[in-house]
Amino acid sequence: MSPSRRTLISTAVAALALSTIATLPALAQGLPKLKVGLMLPYTGTYAALGNAIENGFRLHVAEQGGKLGGREVEYVKVDDESDPSKATDNVNKLVKRDNVDVLIGSVHSGVAMAMAKVAKDTGTVLIVPNAGADAVTGAMCAPNIFRSSFSNWQPGYAMGEVVAKKGHKKVVTITWKYAAGDESVKGFKESFEKGGGTVVKELNLPFPNVEFQALLTEIAAAKPDAVFTFFAGGGAVKFVKDYAAAGLKKTIPLYGSGFLTDGTLEAQGADANGLFTALHYADSLNTPRDNAFRLAYAKTYKLQPDVYAVQGYDAAQMLGIGMAAVKGDISKKAEFSAAVEKAKIDSPRGAFTLSKAHNPVQDFYLRQVGDKENKLVSIASKALADPARGCKM
Ligand code: BEZ
Repeated sequence: MSPSRRTLISTAVAALALSTIATLPALAQGLPKLKVGLMLPYTGTYAALGNAIENGFRLHVAEQGGKLGGREVEYVKVDDESDPSKATDNVNKLVKRDNVDVLIGSVHSGVAMAMAKVAKDTGTVLIVPNAGADAVTGAMCAPNIFRSSFSNWQPGYAMGEVVAKKGHKKVVTITWKYAAGDESVKGFKESFEKGGGTVVKELNLPFPNVEFQALLTEIAAAKPDAVFTFFAGGGAVKFVKDYAAAGLKKTIPLYGSGFLTDGTLEAQGADANGLFTALHYADSLNTPRDNAFRLAYAKTYKLQPDVYAVQGYDAAQMLGIGMAAVKGDISKKAEFSAAVEKAKIDSPRGAFTLSKAHNPVQDFYLRQVGDKENKLVSIASKALADPARGCKM
């Protein structure tokens, strides 16, 4: 045998031995690690939201000893930058290159729609821990797609009922021009106009633009009874500050879906005081479940949790429920789905179930900002279910 052939064979034998050793720990435990693909924004206006979701997710996994369905969890992370134009490539990398077992993401509705398309095409389980795109649990609904958060329609609809009941008649809306803004306004308009009000003007600017000045001037000129808005993250901080600086806070009441003041109060300071918003979470629920969650979160991260942390935590709970039902074998898709579908999720927000389209059926709280908290005022809408328009499942 030539020396070069001998070298080749001994290298191959050594490689085989090494790969056998590498798989030994997994085999010894019986099950390989569960690869969780976290596709979230870690930069840009929604960066804090992505971090809070990951924190919440990891907290639940840690409470389970680092395992779901008997499998140790490992993470593969992608910063999606809240950029829909990069989303298909990003999610394909996770599914096809990294071979993740499950996808968790994202925050931005446009990114989540790209994820839902890939999840639907490949059959990969997807749990959406924020993005409200109505289509994800509407026209794009699928047995392997779940949401632990809300549909954009839901908080808008809940707030429309509140604003109508307050007796406001003429409202101007202002938001970013993309699915989350458009659909929040649509939900708001549906219930507000049913309650006797009229949306007299719909103002928009492109995501994630924060040059609000010209639009604030238009609001001042229109003199509506109230303003309804969807903004979130860094954009929400700037909008609330600019609204106050323009002198509008004193003259035209501002209402929002709760993202306007969630995770943002430290930066908004006094400019947020007194604002009313509707959301499926509040800082002062004061239930044993929420108090335990808030304490554990604060101890682990030295931060107060927000709605995004809750949604991340609940995404991990939903994954854990499915994984337990299939004893770690996530390829058993029908059993996985059936278990999550019939579960009552013991969320810090209050227990919730999923609709047929896999969106939470949950209470929406009216909250008011005070002492840097979104304080619970009342239940704005009890067990509100998204209409799941276009879902055929
Ligand atoms: C969305 O794009 O769906 C979204 C982003 C931030 C907060 C809420 C919704």
